[in-house]
Amino acid sequence: MQELFGKLADGTRIHRWSLENGGTRMKVLSYGGIVQSLEVPDRQGRYANVTLGFTRIEDYVDASPYFGALIGRYGNRIGKGAFTLDGSAYQLSVDDGENSLHGGEAGFDTVVWDVEPFERGTDVGLHLSYTSPDGEMGYPGTLTAKVTYTLTADGDWRIDYEATTDKPTVVNLTHHAYWNLAGEGSGTIGDHELAIPAAHFTPTDPGLIPTGELAPVAGTPFDFREPKRIGRDLRAGHPQLLAAKGYDHNWVLDKGITAEPQEVAVLRDPSSGRTLRIASTEPGLQFYSGNFLDGTLVGPAGRAYRQGDALCLETQHYPDSPNHENFPSTVLRPGQTYRSTTVHSFPT
Ligand code: BGC
Repeated sequence: MQELFGKLADGTRIHRWSLENGGTRMKVLSYGGIVQSLEVPDRQGRYANVTLGFTRIEDYVDASPYFGALIGRYGNRIGKGAFTLDGSAYQLSVDDGENSLHGGEAGFDTVVWDVEPFERGTDVGLHLSYTSPDGEMGYPGTLTAKVTYTLTADGDWRIDYEATTDKPTVVNLTHHAYWNLAGEGSGTIGDHELAIPAAHFTPTDPGLIPTGELAPVAGTPFDFREPKRIGRDLRAGHPQLLAAKGYDHNWVLDKGITAEPQEVAVLRDPSSGRTLRIASTEPGLQFYSGNFLDGTLVGPAGRAYRQGDALCLETQHYPDSPNHENFPSTVLRPGQTYRSTTVHSFPT
């Protein structure tokens, strides 16, 4: 089902699609490819929206910290918004202190995507496409991006990303859902249990740019190899947690880049019994514990979002890869196709 959701200041009409399959319900906006809500049942079969969002387009445009949005051309930060490729230096739009975050001032979370619904066998979904002009936000090459959201008969939400370019460029697409499995507006995620199969993470400088080191998680608050309450070590006073106001780091997934999606995180809320299992082809996972939510935004339930009221689990290549030769490459060249897949399952 498609309906008018609202209009941008310039009159552009923003539509909203509602999808349902296998017990999962979601609403998607053409603006930013935003997943406005995603509803799944708890152990008693009661539905709740487990993602943060807004009810009005104006709030997404004015104040959204990427709630539910597609992120491009580059998920997370590029130091000083600068990199060199094939001997040419590029300066990107800088929107986070001196750094470029999530594609710059007007990233893929702020553009209007073309949206085409589809049904294929037992799947339902949406094809989203956007062509980013050569030089947009400082990135070289015309980037043709195609993202498919699929809801499967099992209630999985699958994202397939694809992109091509007409000049050498860098690309790192992801999705910025904020999860609270007890329901948006229900309080903190401190008691959610999280597992991440990663023996290393990428420590950052004070501007949250990776230093280049792959540090072992063993013996640190960053060890999520066994399921752990998020709140357990959050206040441990580790210098990396102090600098980021919590978790806001890239985990180096043990599995690396894979042809098929493999498990990268399991999140469980003991109170509701809801579980989110994420599998991806990507080599990295940004776990962000909602550190910058400051009680100034109000969600659909009419409740303010405060620090730690949700978390993000963003599948990705590592932040600032264009400036680190030891990180998996994010370079895309003409004739190549960028591909990435992430699957969210909600076993009960
Ligand atoms: C980043 C955070 C940032 C947030 C946006 C995350 O992916 O790692 O540092 O504040 O997105 O709200």
